[in-house]
Amino acid sequence: MTPQIQTTTEAVDQVFLLIFGISVVMLLGIAAVMVYFAVRYHHRRHPQPTSQVSSNLWLEITWTVLPTLIVLAMFYYGWAGYLALRNVPEGAMEVKAVARMWSWVFEYENGRASDRLYVPVGRPVKVHLVSEDVLHSFYVPAFRIKRDMVPGMDNYVWFVAPEAGSYHVFCAEYCGTGHADMITRVEALPEGEFIAWLARVEDEGAGGEDLLRRHGCLGCHSLDGAQMAGPTFKGLYGREKRVLSEGRERTLIVDAEYLRRSILQPKADVVVGYPPIMPDYEGRLSEEDLEAMVEFLRTLQ
Ligand code: CUA
Repeated sequence: MTPQIQTTTEAVDQVFLLIFGISVVMLLGIAAVMVYFAVRYHHRRHPQPTSQVSSNLWLEITWTVLPTLIVLAMFYYGWAGYLALRNVPEGAMEVKAVARMWSWVFEYENGRASDRLYVPVGRPVKVHLVSEDVLHSFYVPAFRIKRDMVPGMDNYVWFVAPEAGSYHVFCAEYCGTGHADMITRVEALPEGEFIAWLARVEDEGAGGEDLLRRHGCLGCHSLDGAQMAGPTFKGLYGREKRVLSEGRERTLIVDAEYLRRSILQPKADVVVGYPPIMPDYEGRLSEEDLEAMVEFLRTLQ
């Protein structure tokens, strides 16, 4: 039942063109006939009714059967296209896409993680969709795929990038203040380059900035002082901050201990003026990563 298709883009475009084509023909046809009849049977030309015909069996059969066939054809191709999007080709590479307010992380089977979705050209990729907090939606216009990411629900999409290149990824479900910042890219690399990229396990001595990006911190905190969903990291270290701790406001100086606590249990001291929306990183970071991140934040003067 599923026609052999090469890419998800083809699967969707074929159905789109079919339905769009039928719609254009119907629109033009109906409008033309309507205008023709309005002129042809204008009451000034025909002051008296010219026909006493009240029904025509064949005409009624025709305008019932024909549209039914057209609509059934649209349904058939739509359904076949949907199946093509749901049936992942064999040998697809598997990646987990994790969405959270407000960034993306893509995790590979060998432990590699990235804020961009690197894929090999020409190989199908199955993307498992996971949300850590609220409803997001994984949307890659170039490959015609869009699927909601519902917390607690398993879902997936697949696609294949036919050519090397960089393709937009958006979040297509309003998920709060930073929704519009949930933008990243699919980077399609030639197979050899991709394998080399995948093998480069960055955990040994990964830079602090790399880690911040990989763990999604930069989705809400800027490095250059720009206003985002959370306070900027620039010049943070050593500064005085008004924070809310257990409902009471107090002032503290940002030191290494405060930075650690703010990463592991961000709700303990929330900077006044910002909502308490950052997820806990307790148990999700290695000690080395945490140290590297805090060390990097200290240097951002
Ligand atoms: Cu995530 Cu909108």
